Amino acid sequence: MLKVAVLVSGGGTNLQAVIDAIRDGGITDAKITLVISNNAGVKALDRAASAGIRSMVLSPKDYPDRAAFNAALLGTLKEEAPDLVVLAGFLVAIPPEVVLAFPGRIINIHPSLIPAFCGKGYYGLKVHEAALARGVKLTGATVHFVDEGTDTGPILLQKAVEVHENDTPETLQRRVMEEAEWVILPAAIDLIARGAVTVENGKVRIRQ
Ligand code: GAR
Repeated sequence: MLKVAVLVSGGGTNLQAVIDAIRDGGITDAKITLVISNNAGVKALDRAASAGIRSMVLSPKDYPDRAAFNAALLGTLKEEAPDLVVLAGFLVAIPPEVVLAFPGRIINIHPSLIPAFCGKGYYGLKVHEAALARGVKLTGATVHFVDEGTDTGPILLQKAVEVHENDTPETLQRRVMEEAEWVILPAAIDLIARGAVTVENGKVRIRQ
């Protein structure tokens, strides 16, 4: 049984997709044991509560500086000892010490086809604003392993989504979530839970 910790910041629709997939059998052999949010009062925490999953708020605002927050995040995760840490719309940079403590065991969902529209400053709606400003015809989502860079780790799964001429950042965000994010994030967790994923020379291999 893969023990999963999910880190969130807001709406938690990706968290919900994972909860639903575990319930419906789309993900086998995995259990979310802890949800951590950096924001209090967000819908993601309600979603965890409704599913009977333990949750907690860990906010940089509650610590004197970022180093203290990073130490608290590391300590919490070490104590929880998950097999996999899932960043599901977690908009706080993961400190290098956490990456080092969980090598190859942290994944992130990003709302574009990496390497487009990713890296520092590209998160949430900003990603879709940039895609529309560039006039791309296809965008999508990526699940990747987290390394010490921003959105630079090995790519696990990607799914393309069409951009429509009359799209706003909001309509595009919604389509990318529905058609790509909520599909590939549960799929990635299932593949990891099945032991089907290896990383060689920075590239992911999937055994079907
Ligand atoms: C999602 O679109 C996710 O891909 C994005 O934040 C949103 C969170 O939505 N993540 C990033 O931009 C990370 N760079 P959710 O809280 O409803 O899952």
